[in-house]
Amino acid sequence: LLLGIDLGTSFIKVSIVDSATGSKVASAQYPETEAEIISVQKGWAEQDPERWWTYTKKAILKANAEELYNPKDIQAIGIAYQMHGLVLVDRALQPLRNAIIWCDSRAVEIGNTAFETLQHAGFLQSHLNSPGNFTASKLAWVKENEPEIYSRIYKFMLPGDFISMRLTQEINSNPSSISEGILWDFEQDSLSDRLLDHYGIDRELVPDIQPVFSVYGKVAPEVAQELGLSSEAVVSYKAGDQPNNALSLGVLDVGEVAATAGTSGVIYAVADHLLYDRESRVNSFAHVGHSDGQTNIGVLLCINGTGIQNSWIRKLTGAERSYAEINAEAAQIAVGSEGILVLPFGNGAERMLNNKTIHGHVENLDFVRHSAAHIWRAVQEGIACSFRYGLDIIRENDIHPTVIKAGHANMFLSPLFQQAFADVNQVAVELYEQDGSVGAALGAGIGAGIFRDKREAVAGLKRKGTIEPQQSTRYEELYSSWLQALNQKLNQSNI
Ligand code: XUL
Repeated sequence: LLLGIDLGTSFIKVSIVDSATGSKVASAQYPETEAEIISVQKGWAEQDPERWWTYTKKAILKANAEELYNPKDIQAIGIAYQMHGLVLVDRALQPLRNAIIWCDSRAVEIGNTAFETLQHAGFLQSHLNSPGNFTASKLAWVKENEPEIYSRIYKFMLPGDFISMRLTQEINSNPSSISEGILWDFEQDSLSDRLLDHYGIDRELVPDIQPVFSVYGKVAPEVAQELGLSSEAVVSYKAGDQPNNALSLGVLDVGEVAATAGTSGVIYAVADHLLYDRESRVNSFAHVGHSDGQTNIGVLLCINGTGIQNSWIRKLTGAERSYAEINAEAAQIAVGSEGILVLPFGNGAERMLNNKTIHGHVENLDFVRHSAAHIWRAVQEGIACSFRYGLDIIRENDIHPTVIKAGHANMFLSPLFQQAFADVNQVAVELYEQDGSVGAALGAGIGAGIFRDKREAVAGLKRKGTIEPQQSTRYEELYSSWLQALNQKLNQSNI
């Protein structure tokens, strides 16, 4: 058996997968309602890493309690995690502060200044991204603003490395994860001296770097006992939730494209050369197949405010209803939501908008005509339009998908969203019975040598259906009004 852990921003999900068939045996999620994002200042977003660990254990114990498998039969564990976060630990392996997570915007200015100093063109060629608001810039923020904490750092790490450390008591990472922090130099295929030196970060603070699919450590005896696992079980795969999602959907080679719409929304395409957007509005990181001699780059569009906006609006206007009920009511409203336009940018600095924070907006409300269902529909349409804005940037970079693969999960559970996405973006959407925790389990099977290769690992992938794009002038009109509203906000914003 294989255990996959998906450390999301809202929930931790675990799945147990049968390595012989690739199919799911059991799964569980924790907590019951979305985990908290702590924000003590505007633009800040933090979570407590110990709470991630507690939730992970609770989810594993919840899955065990169903008694559908013997936890001692789990041979390998894989971890997918919310990307770009910063976790700091001291020598006793205790967190020194809350994790500064992916949608925290405090390091935007530090990253922008570094980008100017390091000369755009050369830096982009080797790092494929501006330092932006990613892990290295967050660490530079701690160095500047919390020198006492900085002086006590033993290692910094990505969120998945923390869970792996709690499981194994070993600290390590891999090139894909390190590249999310903009600490990988793709021309040298090594840790980036340039950004480390620029920020004055000591190499000692960087975890050991291993291949993505490799044995990171055995489960520590006391952890094995607490979770009912064998102490022979190994952690053998770690990846950001987006490359992991792509792996789980079989998106491994050029021409294949994945999407997710969880807390954030992502389109993820694969390139076999060092491709980057000149304005760093979409990002290029090492995909899970990237290794010495093979260039395998994931080109990633991220929209911070996707499912988080959908759940936020439900909490305010329809908490007593299920998502399925909300989706059904929203589907009764015509395309265009009778004029309501939603900009879903209320979750921090948006990379595709050059790290501007323009906030969420619901426009054109008419108190006589509009109901909550109009707003629910407009939220889903606004999110679909944001994907189109980002996909057009990906198209500028010469990637022209006609088919996008998505797990039948999160916002892709909504038929209205599925069709809006297909129509606004003019792509077919293939839906699969898949989620990140299953992908993480399959990745563990590769890392532990149970599967020969990635294709074998995802051979059991089941397609649920395909949504074909309709030619829709109503969606074209909606997109052009939406774009106008966005451009107005961008012109007003001087951030
Ligand atoms: C991707 C990104 C988000 C997080 C969410 O680049 O920042 O999708 O990974 O978990």
